[in-house]
Amino acid sequence: MSSIDTFEGRVAVVTGGASGIGRGIAEALIDTGATVVIADVNEDGAKATATEIGAIARSVDVTNIESVEALAQSVLDELGRVDIVVNNAGVGPLIEFEEVTLKDFRWVMDINFWGVVNGMKTFLPTLKANDNGGYIVNTASLAAVVPGPGTAAYGASKAAILSVSDTVAIELEADGTDNIGISVLMPAMVKSNITENARKRPGFDAKTDDTESFQVESRVLEAREVGDMVVDAIRSGNRYIFTHPETREAVAAHQADILAGFDQQ
Ligand SMILES: NC(=O)c1ccc[n+]([C@@H]2O[C@H](COP(=O)([O-])OP(=O)(O)OC[C@H]3O[C@@H](n4cnc5c(N)ncnc54)[C@H](O)[C@@H]3O)[C@@H](O)[C@H]2O)c1
Repeated sequence: MSSIDTFEGRVAVVTGGASGIGRGIAEALIDTGATVVIADVNEDGAKATATEIGAIARSVDVTNIESVEALAQSVLDELGRVDIVVNNAGVGPLIEFEEVTLKDFRWVMDINFWGVVNGMKTFLPTLKANDNGGYIVNTASLAAVVPGPGTAAYGASKAAILSVSDTVAIELEADGTDNIGISVLMPAMVKSNITENARKRPGFDAKTDDTESFQVESRVLEAREVGDMVVDAIRSGNRYIFTHPETREAVAAHQADILAGFDQQ
């Protein structure tokens, strides 16, 4: 399992870093001594957050591969390297399947899933070219492994992030690449602007929105607490970062339901 123990001289890029969990991760990385770039579609938000926490701001739209490639180039031009990439930008409307529009579904997949694919496609070759490797953290969600009402689009996007992350990790291992780590962040509830931002989406319909109800009862963590967990995972090489131990039973119950399929044949 690959990990990073020295952060001095390392450069980290955190997408969706203007707000919420991305900001918490950026703050924790800055405290390690790394240089941190926060990249966000909310350019003013990124600038304001960067000033507050001591990061460098960039604008990016993670749904657009050219925009992500331009981000990578501008970081390489200014800082000369990238070591850690946190593909965290995401959106989270919770809408029942019969109510969710195809437009909403595509919006969620474009940002959450394609944003992560665009980030990995763009940055993985850069990390592989480093003498001392690098690390990728992809923000999924507990919803990737515990389905609940309203998670058809959101959960699908997060399960897809888990799948692509696992696949790339297996492929890197198979080709003998032992200096790139990959972690998948699986938070339950964390303080952020996810609800307000989901309501700004094109075609938002207050009648079908159920974004405030989450599927598993859990504590609401501060984003910075999650940031510290992410840094710990980069140090230890922990693949799956579960933020709320009390959600373990829900994960186990769903896995047990899947395994029960073997017993009914
Ligand atoms: N808050 C939670 O309880 C929770 C739980 C599980 C997973 N997550 C995940 O955590 C991640 C961060 O969400 P958050 O809760 O901090 O929400 P947030 O809304 O506070 O932050 C998300 C950030 O992503 C940015 N963003 C949105 N679309 C973008 C795009 N196309 N390109 C670049 N940036 C974009 C937003 O401007 C915002 O700054 C998301 O992937 C979310 O699904 C959150």
